[in-house]
Amino acid sequence: MAKQLELSPRLALLAGWVPVGTSLADVGTDHGYLPVWLQLHGRVRSAIASDLRKGPLARAKETGQTWGADGIDYRLGNGLADIRPEEAETIVIAGMGGENIASILAAAPWTADRRHTLLLQPQTHAEDLRRFLMDHGYAIRREALVYDRGTIYPCMEAAGGEMTLSLGQLWGGAKLLRDPLGDRYLIEKIIRLQGAVAGLNCSARPEDSKKADSLRDILTALLAMREEWRHANCP
Ligand SMILES: C[S@@+](CC[C@H](N)C(=O)[O-])C[C@H]1O[C@@H](n2cnc3c(N)ncnc32)[C@H](O)[C@@H]1O
Repeated sequence: MAKQLELSPRLALLAGWVPVGTSLADVGTDHGYLPVWLQLHGRVRSAIASDLRKGPLARAKETGQTWGADGIDYRLGNGLADIRPEEAETIVIAGMGGENIASILAAAPWTADRRHTLLLQPQTHAEDLRRFLMDHGYAIRREALVYDRGTIYPCMEAAGGEMTLSLGQLWGGAKLLRDPLGDRYLIEKIIRLQGAVAGLNCSARPEDSKKADSLRDILTALLAMREEWRHANCP
């Protein structure tokens, strides 16, 4: 049997969220696996694969050629600067830091017009992305965790809208109360924050003591969320 392009669990989850027949833009495509897979499986009407750098874009083209995916529009560009609102109903921005994803959206405020579906997967600082979305007229419609090669990644579907998130939700997830990986995600964050607080407690600088106080508030919120998760999931 002919070999097939296989997606990692992280990209497979995002691929499953792409509405069938949509026009897609994958921003920061790198290897281009996602748009190539979607095109090969006839899931999208059109696909733009874009990247800031020439090397990754060349890799994406190579993936398309290797697997025989025709018709993908490969574009060099910073974020959404070279993509017009009418060209993509669904925008994927995955595999970057939460701050970078937020700055790409901030530079393209049309993404909050409620006509676009955003599939976002921050590698780090998911809390910064959730806060940006809340403060700039977006709502997270669904969120899920995926385990991929030893790491748990949050994936979000967002669109223009309104939402209010608690401190715990900013850090621990907007819609992860029923997620099977939710407890583990929260524990990992709690352990990391406890380490940071312990480090700050050794410092004599007054600003570090303030930082430790605010991290303790986050820890309290995450511990409460963990209790909520246990109530919701443990018989
Ligand atoms: C780690 S790769 C992620 C690849 C793929 N999206 C995934 O999730 O597997 C991140 C890619 O984002 C690109 N990138 C970073 N900042 C960008 C920006 N502002 N605009 C477009 N691409 C960007 C990088 O060049 C890199 O190829």
